[in-house]
This record gives sequence, C-alpha cells and structure tokens, in this order.
Amino acid sequence: MALQSHNTEVSAEAARAVPEMSGGLPLLGHLREFQRDPVAFLCRGWRECGELFQFGIGPRKFVVFAGPEAHHAYFKAPEETLDAKSVYQFTVPIFGRGVAYDVSSDLMTEQLGFLFPALRESAMRRYVRIMFEESESFCDALGQEGEIDLPHAMNELTVNIASRCFLGEEIRNEVDSGFAEAYHDLQNGINTLGFFFPRLPTPAHLTRDRARRQITEIFSGIMRERQRTGAQSEDFMQTLMEARYKDGRPLSDNEVTGLLLTSLFAGQHTSAVLASWTGLELHREIPYLDRVRDEMREVYEEEGSLSYAGLKQQPLLENAVRECERLHPPLIILIRKALRPLTYGNYTVPAGALAVVSPALSHLLPHVFADPEKFNPDRFAPPASEEKQHPLALIGFGGGKHRCMGKNFAILQIKAIWTVLLDRFEFKLDTPFPAPNYGSWVTGPRLPCRLRYRRRSQASIFH
Ligand code: HEM
Repeated sequence: MALQSHNTEVSAEAARAVPEMSGGLPLLGHLREFQRDPVAFLCRGWRECGELFQFGIGPRKFVVFAGPEAHHAYFKAPEETLDAKSVYQFTVPIFGRGVAYDVSSDLMTEQLGFLFPALRESAMRRYVRIMFEESESFCDALGQEGEIDLPHAMNELTVNIASRCFLGEEIRNEVDSGFAEAYHDLQNGINTLGFFFPRLPTPAHLTRDRARRQITEIFSGIMRERQRTGAQSEDFMQTLMEARYKDGRPLSDNEVTGLLLTSLFAGQHTSAVLASWTGLELHREIPYLDRVRDEMREVYEEEGSLSYAGLKQQPLLENAVRECERLHPPLIILIRKALRPLTYGNYTVPAGALAVVSPALSHLLPHVFADPEKFNPDRFAPPASEEKQHPLALIGFGGGKHRCMGKNFAILQIKAIWTVLLDRFEFKLDTPFPAPNYGSWVTGPRLPCRLRYRRRSQASIFH
C-alpha cells in the first residue's frame, strides 16, 4: 500500500476529514468487529485507508496514526493538543489522588522523575541479582519433570521480583501482610465499565477502593518502620521516601504509595506477558532457541556466574525479546484525547476525537518490517537492523514524552528469567500455540498455555 504524503502542513481550514473505515453500523459503529479481533480490524483499516484513518465505537470517534512518520506526529504533539490525562482517568482511583494522571502534566513529569535514581545502572545491577535469585528459587520449587501454566508462572515470578525491587524486602518476606490480596483486588478494579465511569459504585469498584486504602496502610507501616529504625533499603520505595519536590517538600505516604502503584501497574503484568510470549516463541522456533543456548554457554564460560555483564552480552536473547515486543506488544493500543484540532498531511483530526497509535498494527506494516508476520529476531541484528530505519518503528514501549521509563528493567528481567530457566530445564510447548487474549487490558496468551518441563541432566553453565 502506498503511503500518502504527510509532511506538508496545510491550514486546518484547507485540510480534509480523516478517511473513515467502511462497515460501521448505526449506533454501534465498529464495536462488534473491533471486539472480535482488534488487530485484524486495525489492519483492515490501514489496508483500506492508509496511515491515518478513523472508526467509531458508539458515539466515540477514534483516529489511528499508523507507521513511523505518523507516530512521530503523534508522539511529538504537545500535551495541550493530544492529552493523555483525560484518557487515563480510570487509573486515578487505583494510583490515588494527587499523583500521576490526577495532577497537571508538569507535576506528573516531576513525580515520575523521582523514580529515575531507582532506575540507574548501579540500582539495576542489584535488581538483576534479585531477578536471578527469584528465578532460581522458582526453579528449585519445580520437580524433575512436569508442567507449568506459563502465564501464571510468569505472573508469580514478576510479582515477586517487582515486590522486592519496587516495594522492598518487607513485602516479599511478609507473606501475610495482606498485600497480595489487596493488589489482586486492585487489579480486578480495571474493567471496561471503569474506563468510562471510574467512580461508579459497582461491587468491583468498592472492593478496589478498599484495597487502595489497605495498600496505603501497609506501605505507610513499612515507611514508618524504616524511619524508626533508620533502615536504608535500595528500592523504589526508599528512593521516593528520600525524594523532594522542587520546593523542598517530601512526598506524602499517599504520594509514595501512588507512584509505587503506578510503577507496579505499568510494569508488572506487562513484563509477565512479554516473558510468556518470549518463552512461547523460543519454544516454537527451536533452531533459534539452540543459538540462544549456545550464546549462553559462550557468555557464561567467560563470566563464570550469572551477572549483569553477562546479561548485557546476550544479543540473541535480547533480539528474541524485541521480536516478541514487535509481534506481541502487551499494550496493543495507546490513546490520547485531541483537545485541539491536529493537522497531519492533508487531514485534520478534530478536537474531541480519541487519537490512537497501535503497536500491534504498526509492527505488522510490510514497508517497515520485512515479512512482518514471521518471528525473525535476526531482523534486529546487522545487516538488517530493521528498527534503525526509524526511531519510532518499534513502539511496544511507547514513544515521546510518555515513553516507558521501565524498558531496560523489563528487558533485563525477561532475559534473566529465561537465562535461568533455560539453564535448568528443557521445555516443550504442551498446548497448541495460543492466540492472543484481547479480553484483558494487557494482551497475553489465551489459556490453556502450558509448557512441559524436564530438569536438564547437564551441569549448570554457571559455576
Ligand atoms: C514489558 C514490559 C513493559 C511494557 C510493554 C511497557 C509499555 C509501556 C508503554 C507502551 C508505555 C507508554 C504508554 C502511553 O504512551 O500511553 C509505558 C509507559 C510507562 N511505563 Fe512501561 N512498560 C513495561 C514495563 C515497565 C516497567 C517495568 C516499569 C517500571 C519500572 C514501567 C513504567 C512505566 C511508566 C511509569 C510509564 C508512564 C510514563 C509517562 O507517562 O511518562 N513500565 N510503558
């Protein structure tokens, strides 16, 4: 499909309406087709209309920006034009008042900036040790052979890792702190109804609100205890406890809790899902898996033991993770609200429309990625280096001002998990390769999704 010209800015008056997808029904618009298979639906939109197109769900108009140039326009648009805050209001009862999407964009940027010290390299080295330890204890708890429910296993592992790296050892050590149940209830508070009416007093929302209060109490207790004993931990919580606003004010317990929950919600389930897809694709593509194992042997013969430096030298594994980011992005659409008209090429996106980029659609565009349906991690290695053609070709971690701040953490985590699991076990996919589950806010594999495992007889490559 030929892309339309896009760089000529024309005045809003001269610009035309964005092309609309065919097949919309009265009142419902494209709701049914979107629900059935959103990615197939968006691909149809692109084939029919090109890099900018619109569709309707009920009374709402959605405008999709597809492909690297369109992403550039989308991600560089100022917040006063494309606004994230109004779309993410459903997170306010979860993250809490006074943080993230409940405050001005500038204040949110200042608040998220408090997390940067917790993501610097020295901290990352410590987290990598935790990632290895947790993966090893996961392996120790398995038998000689058996079966794992992969999404469930990856969820458990990433919750344990995030608990220690973000919240600290106290939560991980105190199994009955009540945190696990409250976190579960808070997650269940995310539903379609809540997207439109976040404060509607449904039973799920009331449970969500109770869980949020419980979590503040649990975290406040830990913070008080740290202050009392002077204990210095190296985790996100401690970083936030020590942070100060520009005017010198420390964060309240509620703000620390809110930013920790923002990190957890942004980073835990997404990582679990991408870790699951990585395991699945590797075990569908055995020749590539063999190369990943060879790479592990070479790296760790040199390194001797599991290490941050070792992980950094596993490009074959890293490219497999990125290829899963491309083929199975956990967040299939990102949304902003157009507060002012936005002109792109010959078209104007009207104020009030919801502007969308879809990593799932854009990663399948054949003029950006060769043979896009195929799992081919080597596309990210020289000489192809396909993602380098444009900085916004691969957008599984977003782009622009709101791009993911946990990308390095997430990729290291997935590499650490699979390095340990592949060292200890041989796996085999025990169910047909699963389709994506679009019913959840993070797109993971549909169940059943099981891997059969057998403990390896060779000695571990780590001494
Ligand atoms: C595989 C795992 C992950 C994926 C696929 C992912 C994906 C994304 C995407 C697509 C965005 C942009 C959202 C938008 O533009 O609307 C984003 C933002 C964000 N991510 Fe991640 N993420 C992951 C892991 C993490 C982790 C581990 C953390 C925490 C350390 C994290 C923290 C954040 C935060 C705080 C934002 C909001 C940034 C802002 O609005 O300024 N993410 N993530």
